[in-house]
Amino acid sequence: MTTAFIEKQFPVSKVSKESYKERKANNGQTLTGLGKWWGRKPLILVRAAILGCLMPASDDAVKDKAIFLKILSMDEAGFEQRKNKKLPVAVIYNVLEKRYALWESCKDYFTIDEKDISFAQEIEREQRDELELLAFSLLGYDEKQSYCMRPEHLENLSKASWAEINALLGTKATSLPELIEELSIRRFGHNVIVGDCFSGGGSIPFEAARMGCDAYGSDLNPVASLLTWADIHLCGASEEELKEIHKFQQDVYESVDKEIEELGIERNEKGDRAISYLYCAEARCPECGMKVPLAPSWVIGKGTKTIAQWVENGDHYDVTVKMGATAAEMAAAEKGTVPGDMLCPHCGKSTPISVLRHDTVGSDGKVVYGLRLWRKDEFEPAPDDVFQERLYAVKYEHTEIVKGKEKKTRYYQAPSECDLQNEEKVRAIIRENFSKWQQEGLVPSMEIESGDKTDELIRTRGWKYWHQLFNPRQLLTLQMFMGKVMASPILLCRVAGILGVNKCFDWNSKLSRWNSGVGNEKSEQTYYNQALNTMTNYGNRSVNGLSPSWYYDINNYVVNHNCVLGLADARDINTTCDFWITDPPYKDAVNYHELSEFFLAWDKKLIKEAFPEWYADSKRVLAVRGDEHFSQTMIDIYANLTKHTSDDGIHVVMFTHSDPAVWAQLALIMWKAGLTVTAAWNIATETDASGLKDGNYVKGTVLLVLRKQTNEDEAFLDELASDIKREVKQQIESMQKLDDKEDPNFSDPDYVLAAYAASLKVLTSYKSIGEIELNHELNLAINSPEKSEVVKLIERAKKIAYDFIIPPEFDSYLWKELAPAERFYLKGLEAEKHGNYQISTYQEYARGFGLTSYSQLMANEKANSARLKTPSEFAMRQINDVPNFENGILRLIFGAIHISIHEDEQPDKGLWHIKNTLQEKYWSSRDMLKQLLAFLKETSAIATMSHWHQAAQMAEHLYVLIDNDHI
Ligand SMILES: C[S@@+](CC[C@H](N)C(=O)[O-])C[C@H]1O[C@@H](n2cnc3c(N)ncnc32)[C@H](O)[C@@H]1O
Ligand SMILES: [Zn+2]
Repeated sequence: MTTAFIEKQFPVSKVSKESYKERKANNGQTLTGLGKWWGRKPLILVRAAILGCLMPASDDAVKDKAIFLKILSMDEAGFEQRKNKKLPVAVIYNVLEKRYALWESCKDYFTIDEKDISFAQEIEREQRDELELLAFSLLGYDEKQSYCMRPEHLENLSKASWAEINALLGTKATSLPELIEELSIRRFGHNVIVGDCFSGGGSIPFEAARMGCDAYGSDLNPVASLLTWADIHLCGASEEELKEIHKFQQDVYESVDKEIEELGIERNEKGDRAISYLYCAEARCPECGMKVPLAPSWVIGKGTKTIAQWVENGDHYDVTVKMGATAAEMAAAEKGTVPGDMLCPHCGKSTPISVLRHDTVGSDGKVVYGLRLWRKDEFEPAPDDVFQERLYAVKYEHTEIVKGKEKKTRYYQAPSECDLQNEEKVRAIIRENFSKWQQEGLVPSMEIESGDKTDELIRTRGWKYWHQLFNPRQLLTLQMFMGKVMASPILLCRVAGILGVNKCFDWNSKLSRWNSGVGNEKSEQTYYNQALNTMTNYGNRSVNGLSPSWYYDINNYVVNHNCVLGLADARDINTTCDFWITDPPYKDAVNYHELSEFFLAWDKKLIKEAFPEWYADSKRVLAVRGDEHFSQTMIDIYANLTKHTSDDGIHVVMFTHSDPAVWAQLALIMWKAGLTVTAAWNIATETDASGLKDGNYVKGTVLLVLRKQTNEDEAFLDELASDIKREVKQQIESMQKLDDKEDPNFSDPDYVLAAYAASLKVLTSYKSIGEIELNHELNLAINSPEKSEVVKLIERAKKIAYDFIIPPEFDSYLWKELAPAERFYLKGLEAEKHGNYQISTYQEYARGFGLTSYSQLMANEKANSARLKTPSEFAMRQINDVPNFENGILRLIFGAIHISIHEDEQPDKGLWHIKNTLQEKYWSSRDMLKQLLAFLKETSAIATMSHWHQAAQMAEHLYVLIDNDHI
């Protein structure tokens, strides 16, 4: 068996930073443009995980680390290659100026006048480039990143880098796929097969294939499997194929456009073409009988200052649309008619929406929904339904030729006679064709099944069929696209087409919120969040407005097409892989199955025709969910995967929780499935890595690394205790040894996590543990974690870890002499020095140091502004509730600082207090006193800690006094 790099170490900080950068790129992400899926994993994280499994660990951890980073282009040479932006002269100047040793030799290269820093005139281009590169090399990782493309965009590493990589690994590679192949053959005798049975948006199989691995990818959900298929075959298409796809997209679009033009339904009386339509619901006010148009705001455009205004006309309102409204008119329009309840503009009375809907409470106390449910053949409200719908504004584009050039101007209007006729024409077409289209699969006929997310549709609108989320105009346009996609004989084009129509559904339903923001003034996507929220008013895109959705970007890369992609319940997979990299749905996870039905309702027929062996529903009952079946389902799935793992294979399971009980549960699941933990790393994928340094690390993705369990031995818990202690210690020490003080890779949570993993590694390395009956233990971990032995074991590991987590510059022998409460205080202050004011950090430290009460140490315990008391805030008050603090040396120092400040800023008063308290122990305590004072005085340089400045200064004075104090 080969120990893999990822089982020994992992560059968590750098991978976090790159993951975060990728996440933040939004539309610049490689796969997201293909379609909506939730919880996609960053590709760089996947790349690092796969490489970490494949690259063997040698005896030289430092070299391994350097080469690993080099392969990922995260080293100095990689940065130089990735650099694609110029550093401004001012930045170069500022960086170099701070390096005193360097500055002497470079300062003459710059000239500074009042406004500007520039290069001195005589400086040659080459010298400028050299200075720029020098400054660049001195930047921190995050700053460097801002001048660089992402690693995935670098075509290949330099020859020099490959030479270094090959020298260490004994390979002959000139590209990543070649390296993958060589390392694979050496290890497995074939190219490595990387599998993912929860492939979702397909990040894992795609990245595996892009790296050159053979890939296996499947998901239970057809929309996910389709996206995974598209990742490989569209993003990995050849030039020829891409051309064909683009031509197909263009042909479809143009022919839909032509049909719409022939019908004339998107043109107004002036012959201008529509961009968007705005619709709203209407309901009768139960108080006065007036028919009230509904929207939370009648502002249409904040940039164009456009509003809808309503004028009473008998029992209803007529609309006018005003552009260039005054500030007062804008403010009035902001109010809308549904600030929460319906607010009738006629009688001024409010009616709760649930009353409008006639919801009642049944005899069992449950709400009985009042709305009539729509039938399968209905596509608009019946005349006496509570909620009616109406068009209230249209955005048009006028094109004219000015001085030989096309000039386009956009404007809004209230529906004109011509617009209303168009609406009627659309409705008539739908009325005539709807059931035929349903039969042909051009529009949905699927019922909306009740569920956590789907119930909202039924409850708030009475929509019982998926097509009812689309109005007649939307149905008409979308069905045209559907027909053309269906007619395509080429699989690639057909899939490209399904993704295209899916994007159009997402961006053009009755759930598409109208965005009136400056520079926007357009309708948004249905899935702007993970829900199906109905809207009182919404935007509708014309064919023109749909073009960005239809013509989505396909990013093109060379990928290994040796892939097996499918649609399957993970329990049924029977493909053997070398690495399983999986990201299972978790407890509070997304309702994938329900959300995907929005698409499946349309795609059923298209999918079945494209992939005859696939099914086309969401298989709700088989989906992994956070209910009482979760553990058993996961055990079944991972037992199956274990069976289909090659002997030297590795599993990486991604999850996002840090709570020991959840950890225990997952570890037990994996253990029961026949796997043993070998390592764990936390990557901050959701947020800025630098913001996570000391505390709350829930937002990361944990990579849990596992192997097949082969040991047949049984052990007993008490025998394990010392093994666990040794393993935790060893793990933390090896991480500390590897870490770079200047550019730290690991922070506290990483050590704690490593401790969890180390304890689980010992535990799960045995076939069984005498006292632990797995089913019972799993049940405890879920239902009463405080009774679970495994939870206890993890908690203990955390405490052991805390003995090793010492603030930098703090002497480790002195640290050991401090009481837990004192360590708690110092770690808290260290967090504050890094700008961390989160109460969760203190809670975490308190758990780590086994402190049950710490309130007396805190000046503030609010969630995001928590901080410790300063010496003056302690004053001379007794701290009785915190064990071993009042009589400790830290409290003594606080007293001394307080007295010194209080007594006319005289540090000798404070020193006297110390000496008087310690008596003859003073001399033997000097090292500790100096160490603590040195730590406290460091706060003076920190801008956000002004509340500490006075105390920091006094700490400095005391430090000098004690330092100079001799017998
Ligand atoms: C967290 S997502 C994976 C996201 C993916 N890693 C990505 O980057 O896009 C989990 C996936 O598990 C799928 N899933 C749920 N139950 C399943 C089952 N029983 N078998 C296979 N896949 C399942 C869901 O459809 C969902 O796509
Ligand atoms: Zn009224």
